[in-house]
Amino acid sequence: PLVTSKEMFNKAYKGGYAIGAFNVNNMEIIQGIVEAAKEEKSALILQVSAGARKYANPIYLKKLVEAAVEDSNLPIVLHLDHGENFDICKACIDSGFTSVMIDGSKYPFEENIRITKEVVEYAHSKGVVVEAELGKLAGVEDAVKVSEKDATYTDPEQAVEFVERTGVDSLAVAIGTSHGAYKFKGTPSLDFERLEIITKKLEGFPLVLHGASTVMPEFVAKCNEYGGKLPGAQGVPEDMLRKAATMGVCKINIDTDLRLAMTATVREYFVNHPEEFDPRKYLGPARDAIKQMVQHKIKNVLGCSNSI
Ligand code: G3H
Ligand code: 13P
Ligand code: ZN
Ligand code: NA
Repeated sequence: PLVTSKEMFNKAYKGGYAIGAFNVNNMEIIQGIVEAAKEEKSALILQVSAGARKYANPIYLKKLVEAAVEDSNLPIVLHLDHGENFDICKACIDSGFTSVMIDGSKYPFEENIRITKEVVEYAHSKGVVVEAELGKLAGVEDAVKVSEKDATYTDPEQAVEFVERTGVDSLAVAIGTSHGAYKFKGTPSLDFERLEIITKKLEGFPLVLHGASTVMPEFVAKCNEYGGKLPGAQGVPEDMLRKAATMGVCKINIDTDLRLAMTATVREYFVNHPEEFDPRKYLGPARDAIKQMVQHKIKNVLGCSNSI
């Protein structure tokens, strides 16, 4: 069934693992992810961004996710990723999403609280859960100074006040991850000291890690080998994700790794089969690559196999 993340996060927290939250934009992506979760008997979060709604048309994504639920019988959360205002959150809640993110991280603290509260009030009246974000994810470099970190990373005291005052159900934190394929210029590092403090202060409360793709080297290499150009692409090492999952982090967001798996596979296929033009011939392998990658994440990184 379509479910909220409430019970999922409770179990994940206690079990020291995280649920994968994967961004979906079309049928093959959804099928690849769901096949992996089925084999691993894993709970699953499928998330839809504003860009995904625009690309696919909201009704298509909704119906594809319904098909995934019916086909798999898994507990699946349908989540709005990075909702930018009340209206988009309301539209998703009204259309049957079980979870929404209101991303007020770009606003000053008080304004972030205000818009988050507004969404929480509406969502909770409809039985829908809410994720918010405090602190800014940025293009982070190797040598971020302490003063810069304090300005952009999540402040633990503020996190406690934010959660108390908004009544939000989960909180995305900034500890050094960022969106996209270029997360670190030098050696990757996350502020685990900060994550540990936030985890302690918000004991039992589910945290979310955005920008958590690993930018898997084999896919980057394959893209580059078959005509792509992704110099210096680098993500969050998997042992760091594993470590975060043992702490307060209960939801780990992955989009870039899906994009790279798909693109690397399609690029390779085109180079090796220039005579083919049937989309099923290259989207099929792309879907298989997504399935394999997601299964690996569930089993070896997130730790959420057999979580249903
Ligand atoms: O956080 C960003 C996600 O990767 C979604 O990206 O807005 O291009 O769909 P998008
Ligand atoms: P990645 O770009 O690291 O996959 O992050 C995805 C994300 O945070 C979606 O909200
Ligand atoms: Zn994100
Ligand atoms: Na956890």
